[in-house]
Amino acid sequence: MDMPRRRTPLLLLAVSALVLAWPASCAEPVLFPVAKDAATSLYTIPVRDGANHVIDLAGPLLWSTCAADHLPANITCQDPVCKLANAYRQPGCRDAGQTCKHRCTAYPYNPVTGRCAAASLIHTRLVANTTDGKNPLRQVSVRAMAACAPKKLLARLPRDASGVAGLAASGLALPAQRVAGKFTLCLPRQGEGVAIFGGGPLFLLPESAAGDLTTTLAFTPLRSRRDNPSYYLPVKAIAVDKAPVQLPKDALATGGVVLGTTAPYTALRPDVYRQFVDAFDKALTRQWNTTKKVPAVAPFEFCYDSKTLPGPTRIGWLVPDIDLVLEGGKTNWTFGGLSSMVDVNDFTAACLGFVEMKKGGYGGAPAVVIGGFQMENHVLQFDLEKRRLGFARVPIFTSCSNFNFTRN
Ligand SMILES: *[C@@H]1O[C@H](CO)[C@@H](O)[C@H](O)[C@H]1NC(C)=O
Ligand SMILES: *[C@@H]1O[C@H](CO)[C@@H](O)[C@H](O)[C@H]1NC(C)=O
Ligand SMILES: *[C@@H]1O[C@H](CO)[C@@H](O)[C@H](O)[C@H]1NC(C)=O
Ligand SMILES: *[C@@H]1O[C@H](CO)[C@@H](O)[C@H](O)[C@H]1NC(C)=O
Ligand SMILES: *[C@@H]1O[C@H](CO)[C@@H](O)[C@H](O)[C@H]1NC(C)=O
Repeated sequence: MDMPRRRTPLLLLAVSALVLAWPASCAEPVLFPVAKDAATSLYTIPVRDGANHVIDLAGPLLWSTCAADHLPANITCQDPVCKLANAYRQPGCRDAGQTCKHRCTAYPYNPVTGRCAAASLIHTRLVANTTDGKNPLRQVSVRAMAACAPKKLLARLPRDASGVAGLAASGLALPAQRVAGKFTLCLPRQGEGVAIFGGGPLFLLPESAAGDLTTTLAFTPLRSRRDNPSYYLPVKAIAVDKAPVQLPKDALATGGVVLGTTAPYTALRPDVYRQFVDAFDKALTRQWNTTKKVPAVAPFEFCYDSKTLPGPTRIGWLVPDIDLVLEGGKTNWTFGGLSSMVDVNDFTAACLGFVEMKKGGYGGAPAVVIGGFQMENHVLQFDLEKRRLGFARVPIFTSCSNFNFTRN
């Protein structure tokens, strides 16, 4: 595969959006290291000019702050690219949808503050390494389209972030620009995780022991909804210690269950949260009747004295399993202690790592947003062609921060 380094002025590059993607001949997967920002718990990839961009699974655009002298792409309001860029209007994004005048305007959105801003679109190049799933191989550069946002849109994002990498299946997000029909995330709890765009295997060190982790995946259909670019999972029930949590009728179907990398911990709508945490606390104290609660440690409500909890073990605290029962009932996504309990106060206490969604959110709030902590140290393979998610917990003798980033 030859990737000529062209020096053509960016504006002269193809205008039609769908040839803006990785060239078809360059079907090799590419990778980015994934960092977790300690201050915000957000995950970033250095997707544009080596600058970090926050991973947003629900984001329909790639946006960055741009140099003051950037040249906006000449895209008219009627251009299909402009329609794609504006396919979703984020709630609370008042500017959006104002009449487009001459050149296309996009409305990038900050998933933390909920703010958006008017922005121009530009043609840009992304630089990444190809990979065989074991190491980086060689650097390639590909065209893509991004929105240029004002600096103030970076509020409350990591200090070193210069934008957001939207990974939704729609709009002008990276996967929708045919950067790949498939991408895989392995979010780290600490250290450097890995994101791979394109198919192919994934190996973590020690390679010989773990093997290709994509062979261990379980699958669930991925759903979409018209008014929201998030990835939805067909979750039929939530069970704690094998007993379904009693929820109000259709509580999960109303609003749905989405994956949200910009939520540090899984957030549940108040009607679902209360039933769930009560079920967990009851199951835990029933199993382990000496468990002692300690005062809440924000943002968590249910915290326990570590000395009174069973464990810790290599698979975490031996607390009741939490099952997301997926469509068909043949597959569950199960969270054990490593994914459910958060150690706090110098390990003297551990809290149930699920939080109550703030009230006063937008209408139609999801019932559950599966957050970063619960997705960490999982292989998550988004297959946009087959519209399914492959998922598997990384074996306990390795972790998402064990990818070998030494070039082969
Ligand atoms: C922008 O594109 C339109 C329509 O494709 C064309 O008529 C116009 O001359 C272009 N403007 C510039 C500055 O290239
Ligand atoms: C590609 O990999 C090499 C070796 O790990 C690294 O030095 C370089 O920064 C990588 N390039 C990009 C664009 O990530
Ligand atoms: C999924 O979880 C439910 C509730 O805990 C349980 O009854 C069911 O047996 C599980 N199914 C599989 C395939 O593990
Ligand atoms: C806790 O459980 C043990 C064994 O199941 C039982 O003997 C003990 O009485 C229980 N303690 C309390 C306080 O319920
Ligand atoms: C990482 O990959 C490099 C290049 O293939 C190899 O030389 C090195 O031994 C690998 N590191 C480990 C710890 O296996």
